[in-house]
Amino acid sequence: MKCAVAVQTAVQATFTMIEQNIFTTRLELRRLQPNDAEEVFYTYGSKPEVGRYLTWPTHRGLTDTRNFLEHVGQSWGLGVEFTFGIRIRSHNRLIGSLGIQNDDGRIEVGYVISPAFWGQGFATEACTAMVNYLRDLPWIYRIQSFVDAENIASARVLLKSGFIEEARLPLWRRFVNQGNIPRDCIQFRVPLEGRR
Ligand SMILES: CC(C)(COP(=O)(O)OP(=O)(O)OC[C@H]1O[C@@H](n2cnc3c(N)ncnc32)[C@H](O)[C@@H]1OP(=O)(O)O)[C@@H](O)C(=O)NCCC(=O)NCCS
Repeated sequence: MKCAVAVQTAVQATFTMIEQNIFTTRLELRRLQPNDAEEVFYTYGSKPEVGRYLTWPTHRGLTDTRNFLEHVGQSWGLGVEFTFGIRIRSHNRLIGSLGIQNDDGRIEVGYVISPAFWGQGFATEACTAMVNYLRDLPWIYRIQSFVDAENIASARVLLKSGFIEEARLPLWRRFVNQGNIPRDCIQFRVPLEGRR
């Protein structure tokens, strides 16, 4: 019981310390909200080519997206996951999302960009901005991410955003949109000064 109280306190502290908007030259990372459902669904949530390397099932209808956004809102409130839409600033268009999971100061980063916008450096720009923001927060002791070993594009994004490769992990986890078969993964982390 004591332990549960301590965790709750830490999570609450975390929640108050995350920005809801982060700006880069071309992009705004903005906290996802329930009224983003249609943009999320049509931009990336429903696209099978996007889902291949993701850990959540491709959305079959707007209800899936609305349920997802409800989960997103609750998780933000609990301080365990913070999900941002990635928008092009010049015309406020949603092109993807970036999420960070918080396990009491150990952060896991993930992202997705609409196929229509691949190859223009957007994921790298968003991920770099997030890493630079997170690395200055003293309560964070680790920033990590993993990719399917065949997801070369995502591995490139991580390396360009300040991550280093940490480990090759055979049969590390199942991917729901690839028949739920366990797949090899690569683990990355951001070296944090003073925190090894
Ligand atoms: C991974 C993803 C986010 C990259 O988005 P993006 O905006 O196109 O990324 P960037 O333009 O910033 O950089 C992509 C890099 O991957 C490289 N790349 C893209 N496709 C590639 C491929 N098939 N093989 C090798 N490299 C590839 C690009 O050349 C670029 O690297 P470079 O600058 O060294 O040339 C996007 O492909 C995506 O949403 N994929 C589906 C979801 C996903 O896999 N998310 C990550 C889960 S861990």
